[in-house]
Amino acid sequence: MRTRPLKVALLGCGVVGSEVARIMTTHAADLAARIGAPVELAGVAVRRPSKVREGIDPALVTTDATALVKRGDIDVVVEVIGGIEPARTLITTAFEHGASVVSANKALLAQDGAALHALAQEQGRDLYYEAAVAGAIPLIRPLRESLAGDKVNRVLGIVNGTTNFILDKMDSTGAGYQEALDEATALGYAEADPTADVEGFDAAAKAAILAGIAFHTRVRLDDVYREGMIEVTAADFASAKAMGCTIKLLAICERAADGGSVTARVHPAMIPLSHPLASVRGAYNAVFVESDAAGQLMFYGPGAGGAPTASAVLGDLVAVCRNKLSGATGPGDSAYTQLPVSPMGEVVTRYHISLDVADKPGVLAQVATVFAEHGVSIDTVRQQGRQDGGGDASLVVVTHRASDASLSGTVEALRNLDTVRGVASIMRVEGE
Ligand code: HSE
Repeated sequence: MRTRPLKVALLGCGVVGSEVARIMTTHAADLAARIGAPVELAGVAVRRPSKVREGIDPALVTTDATALVKRGDIDVVVEVIGGIEPARTLITTAFEHGASVVSANKALLAQDGAALHALAQEQGRDLYYEAAVAGAIPLIRPLRESLAGDKVNRVLGIVNGTTNFILDKMDSTGAGYQEALDEATALGYAEADPTADVEGFDAAAKAAILAGIAFHTRVRLDDVYREGMIEVTAADFASAKAMGCTIKLLAICERAADGGSVTARVHPAMIPLSHPLASVRGAYNAVFVESDAAGQLMFYGPGAGGAPTASAVLGDLVAVCRNKLSGATGPGDSAYTQLPVSPMGEVVTRYHISLDVADKPGVLAQVATVFAEHGVSIDTVRQQGRQDGGGDASLVVVTHRASDASLSGTVEALRNLDTVRGVASIMRVEGE
């Protein structure tokens, strides 16, 4: 084994960074044996240097992250600060000064992955980011390496633990969104400002990364259609239960049937209770991958948290260090298919539409005509008269597969019918 250690600079020492440092120390001998050389923490860049960090030599702590990545003797920079800047500049500076990079930064990778990969390649460095998507779950490496000989057609996943916790709570207790969010906040699953999670931004960044890797193409954050889950109601869960489904916030990346384009989207959807993703409870993540040769694969585990995310970071660290010792680099960017990303209107799926309608003769026929006029075929209809004496009824229509554009046209026309008092909810039905 080489005795000269590989030097690691850690950018950020919060929930994930402190676990990375701890595991590097406690597993030092095993890491050295697996890599073929010891790895040494050479510097830790933080914002608050006065904070006591157990197990970290205070002499290694600095507030000058730029000077740390410019040192020239750093082999690997581990970036766990998140956000776009200063992370982007620190990573590019690290590449220019001889270091490879392990990052957990989904927002940055989704936005600037192409440019960062290009620079890494130009400089002969590695850029690894297993921790950026679904925390501890091995997903990037299986897609990039294990499935490199196969053809992935679909990636369907629960990639946000906070929203899965909230939806699971609503499902199991009948709670409304706000009540479930309050519990998620009290238990530390939801952040004080939960926007990135509940509005689907976090999942959309992960979907962009997954789609790009799965289909060997370029999918930018802006290409991902996104709807959050704040409008999901207890009534939606009751409707879902009535048809043997539950509701999940899904990231769905698909290759078109003709292979000529891809789509990526994040939105709440009903899925059958028999689908493996339906049983993903609490804050867990799971990703279902469908490919030509392997068939259906499911990856499951903790999608967030200090130690689970650090596990993914350490796996990358070992891989990058091994590459460094052998004088090679690992798999880089692979966007050779250059498939266009189709707009949401071209996505084809099933829909569950809940309408408030007048309870009088001819209404069902009128509603059915609107669906027919837009080429949307109805699978089932369920009507229930209201007990409040208002003469209205609730009408639930489940469609066969139709394009999102056709469905949007249908809903717009339904809203213009005098007999339709309102469209209570529209939800896509997936996983069948
Ligand atoms: N906030 C994310 C989640 C974890 O709730 O899953 C980090 O991506």
